[in-house]
Amino acid sequence: MPTAGIAETMPQSESCELERPKPFNFFIFGASGDLAKRKIIPALYQLSVLSLLPEDFLVIGAARSDISTEAFRDKMRQAVMEAAGHSAFDKGKWEHLANKLYYIPMQYDSPQAYTSLAKRCMPLEKQYKTCQNRIFYLAVPPTAFEDVITNLGEAGLASPASAGNEKGYTHIVIEKPFGRDLRSASNLNGVLNKYFAENQIYRMDHYLAKETVQNILMFRFANSVFEPVWNNRFIDHVQITAAETIGIEHRGGYYEESGVLRDMFQNHLLHLLALTAMEPPQAFSTEKVRDERVKAIGSIKPLNPECLAGFLSLGQYGPGNGTPGYRQEPDVQPYSNTPTYAALKLEVENWRWNGVPFYLRSGKKLASRKGEIAVHFKPVPHLMFMGSQMGRIEPNAIVLRIQPGEGLEMLIQAKHPGSRICLSPVKLDYTYPEEAAPKDYSRVLLDCMQGDQMLFVRTSEVDASWELLTPVIEQAESQKWDFPNYHPGSEGPAGAAALLSRNGHQWDPL
Ligand code: BG6
Repeated sequence: MPTAGIAETMPQSESCELERPKPFNFFIFGASGDLAKRKIIPALYQLSVLSLLPEDFLVIGAARSDISTEAFRDKMRQAVMEAAGHSAFDKGKWEHLANKLYYIPMQYDSPQAYTSLAKRCMPLEKQYKTCQNRIFYLAVPPTAFEDVITNLGEAGLASPASAGNEKGYTHIVIEKPFGRDLRSASNLNGVLNKYFAENQIYRMDHYLAKETVQNILMFRFANSVFEPVWNNRFIDHVQITAAETIGIEHRGGYYEESGVLRDMFQNHLLHLLALTAMEPPQAFSTEKVRDERVKAIGSIKPLNPECLAGFLSLGQYGPGNGTPGYRQEPDVQPYSNTPTYAALKLEVENWRWNGVPFYLRSGKKLASRKGEIAVHFKPVPHLMFMGSQMGRIEPNAIVLRIQPGEGLEMLIQAKHPGSRICLSPVKLDYTYPEEAAPKDYSRVLLDCMQGDQMLFVRTSEVDASWELLTPVIEQAESQKWDFPNYHPGSEGPAGAAALLSRNGHQWDPL
């Protein structure tokens, strides 16, 4: 298919440039774990490379492993080199960060550990002039969330610290999964709200910080050509995909408890749907955008758990291509019923979307890594181009590519060049230039340092998404599934295709 019209990005104005945050002390609980190594420290390093860290700051890793600050720095240096690529590693920028990186071993469930942590930090905070600004990042297993939050609160560390006339901020960042159902999420919110105000709480969903995801609102509401057709009069259906080629990557213990519906749907995929379906906020401000996201999730038609087959298809990958199946992965039960793939059909019940199916799918070990939102339009009302040379005329589509190759494409029909009258599809494609901009994790860390909660999830959003999915997940877990049912490297289970074909639709290929 021909590709045409590569758009160019105009030079950005100075006001688009990101500002450096004020000095801070960034605590990482769970600092010896996988998340700190793969995401958090590399994200801080990226901010250092982009000169988006202030001169004065401090990073304190805390975890159960009994290692020294030197050993921690070495381990993190390796991790950053792996994430950045050895040739791109900037020693100077790493040292700017590494010199301010400390490690303190501690037990999360010991109240004394928090008072002594505070005592040990104070001289460092003074030395690094962190201005009483503190961020607590919980990169611990979900089972430890409550202990850390309660102990921070009881040690008096939740309220913003002050020294003399100076008062800083205290923010707490919570990784997903935020609860495992509506009840546990409400309990966790209860514990948080006992010590922290909502404007101190930063619930992570790194998908909200992906470049194309942030662009959905710009694309929809800064252009007048799209919004008039962004409704059920013109749109036939929407496909939201988050497909991965990787498996569960040594996270068997976590994944057995979570499965794909908790891991990807309750958060990432429902947020993508919310941004695609929501009404224009009155202003581009944190609470107004969050209000509309919640309303969109709250407008999804409740799902009847008694009729799972009508809207849900689940899958689990088997062995193949020389790799183990899900059931053979470490820490996974030999007869596990946990899904690694799901396809879900949702409807948004309001004037704009009534009758438009939203198909969501996500899975591990699929044919390609692909994150996108594909908006499929209805066919033209009357087809005057008939005849064999015309072929099948595909309706228009707009695809917001989240990854890889972030960008957007529009499928239109145009005359095939030449003397014959033939139509052929043309793809208008805009790929984001590779810019030195903060990637998802760096972006959310920066926002948290600057006190901007727009890309974080509010309590009401967590509640709305669990309210929708909890009954479905519980019903699905009580049922026996015929797993494994898809081959690694494939498009997923046959049931997922059947879910769409009933409505005369088919998935875009992965
Ligand atoms: C995480 C999930 O939230 O997102 C992982 O826990 C998943 O299972 C990951 O692999 C996908 O993120 P990304 O940014 O690689 O698409």
